[in-house]
Amino acid sequence: MCGIVGYLGRQDAAPLVLEGLARLEHRGYDSAGVAVLGRTGLKLAKQSGRVRDLADSLPKRFAGTVGIGHTRWATHGPATDANAHPHVDEAGKVAVVHNGILDNSAALRAALTDAGVTLSSDTDTEVLAHLVARSASDTLEGKVRDALAAVVGTYGLAVVHADFPDRIVVARNGSPLIIGVGDKEMFVASDLAAIVRHTTTVAMLDDGELATVTAGGFTTMRHSDLSATGKSASEVDVDASAYDAGDHESFMHKEMLEQPVTARAALRGRLDERFGTAHLGGLDMDARDLRAVRRVKILGCGSAYYVGQMGAALIEELARIPADAEAASEFRYRDPVIEPDTLYVAVSQSGETIDTLLAVQEVRRKGGRCVGLVNVVGSAIARECDGGIYLHAGPEVAVASTKALTNMFLGFALLALQLGRVRDLSIADGKRLIAGLERLPEQIAEVLAGESDLVEVAQTLAGAESLFFIGRVRGYPVAREGAQKFKEISYRHAEAYQTSELKHGPLALISPDVPTVALVPADELAERNVAALHEISARSGPLVVVTHEGVDLGEVDARRIVVPRNEPELDPILLTIPLQLLAYHAAQHLGLDIDKPRNLAKSVTVE
Ligand code: G6P
Repeated sequence: MCGIVGYLGRQDAAPLVLEGLARLEHRGYDSAGVAVLGRTGLKLAKQSGRVRDLADSLPKRFAGTVGIGHTRWATHGPATDANAHPHVDEAGKVAVVHNGILDNSAALRAALTDAGVTLSSDTDTEVLAHLVARSASDTLEGKVRDALAAVVGTYGLAVVHADFPDRIVVARNGSPLIIGVGDKEMFVASDLAAIVRHTTTVAMLDDGELATVTAGGFTTMRHSDLSATGKSASEVDVDASAYDAGDHESFMHKEMLEQPVTARAALRGRLDERFGTAHLGGLDMDARDLRAVRRVKILGCGSAYYVGQMGAALIEELARIPADAEAASEFRYRDPVIEPDTLYVAVSQSGETIDTLLAVQEVRRKGGRCVGLVNVVGSAIARECDGGIYLHAGPEVAVASTKALTNMFLGFALLALQLGRVRDLSIADGKRLIAGLERLPEQIAEVLAGESDLVEVAQTLAGAESLFFIGRVRGYPVAREGAQKFKEISYRHAEAYQTSELKHGPLALISPDVPTVALVPADELAERNVAALHEISARSGPLVVVTHEGVDLGEVDARRIVVPRNEPELDPILLTIPLQLLAYHAAQHLGLDIDKPRNLAKSVTVE
């Protein structure tokens, strides 16, 4: 949600800023804008709609070598042209772009109105432009410091001022802000994806920092008193092609197919074959700490929540510790009891999801230990946690999580192994699971290789207005994740149920128009699952069954999708992969924008 891009150097700023904004589109937004400083002062263009619409409607005279831009996801006020960023002061000299939320904006707006200022938008951000303009300080840094002293809330922001045309001032509190160093040119952005094509030499601001960026370099300081923090830039190890869909028609397709490689990256250096355990240095917990854990509580949102349920099952099975997952968005509202011997695990691809971040803060405020399973290194959740496991999936661009989700599962498997091996899990079982984990990337590749066989069945499912995904015990979170993917990108009503609950309600809806995707692994519940399939079949409900070789479906009329078997505890992730492909090809058949589903954002940074 919301993106910031800025440029200063010798080139025309607007095209570079717009290109950067386009690279942040996947995060979700509903309006966009850009401001440049040229010879004739500040110029501004902003409107609701897409970045390309903004680019098309840019005035002819829009030259300037300093520029800032923004993609906005409406929070305070609707997605109108007036509410789009940048926001400017009354004199049209100051422009501000801002990610985050100012909690005291209502009071500040009222105070500004009382002081005779005419506000021209409904946003919280606009107050910053007026506060900067009204500061008596004679430097831009001082003006921004004064403005920030008045606001309460979160921000990543960039400010330009016509009286200080050689600089962009940026600041951070709770919302990422990156400075990129080029050759006699500089970039600022809220996400590396916006600038990675131009530079991988970057500095990331910490909360409480402000920086002055000029074409020749940057200086960082505390924004409370402008004392120097002396940060320097360093090279980040990213492959710019990770932000490019290449030959694939979408990022989701590319990211699904990357899974065998990214899964290997998640396991690399973490498996101890000799002792049948895992090494997770980032957890920062020794054997005594691990043994002291009496319960595990996993917190995440959306797909991260569902894979958290898969993780809880793994931990409970392997380590025999009670474990469960909960939607992080609900957690803090029920005034949870935080137990000192519970290990809290926050799981998030982006590391920015505000609901998950606030859940972590709730745990830590009450003295609990919270570790993170996070993909984005140095992200807010990763920083907030006591330790963690990085997922090493590489940048994930598509809103629907695939490769990061798979690595979350692997992260839980490693954690379960480590928790198990300091308890009753035998070395033989530990080695069995390690061998299973080592086989997984190849087996994921095998499922992906069957993609073309799934296209037709996906197209058939796309024709249904409503469908069920069902599974039991280990298979139930897989069903939930399958339904989530399907609804997120195909906009079909997809609902997950425990297979055992079917006859307690949903069976009433089964008809030839309501297909069911059933997960029937070759486990101890297979027979019971097949019995449920008969009940569906008897009511002419179309069936797609994701199963293993050797499972006897009897007389049931079903389309079978067979996935390879691994160790039973690790099977859920192999059952998940075909569900990604089904959702993908259903959405593609419907001609939808797969990477940017309507109303959804990759990083949900507001409540
Ligand atoms: C959004 C996305 C979901 C995603 C969830 C959690 O709601 O639409 O697809 O699973 O955020 O994201 P995270 O970055 O915390 O894993």
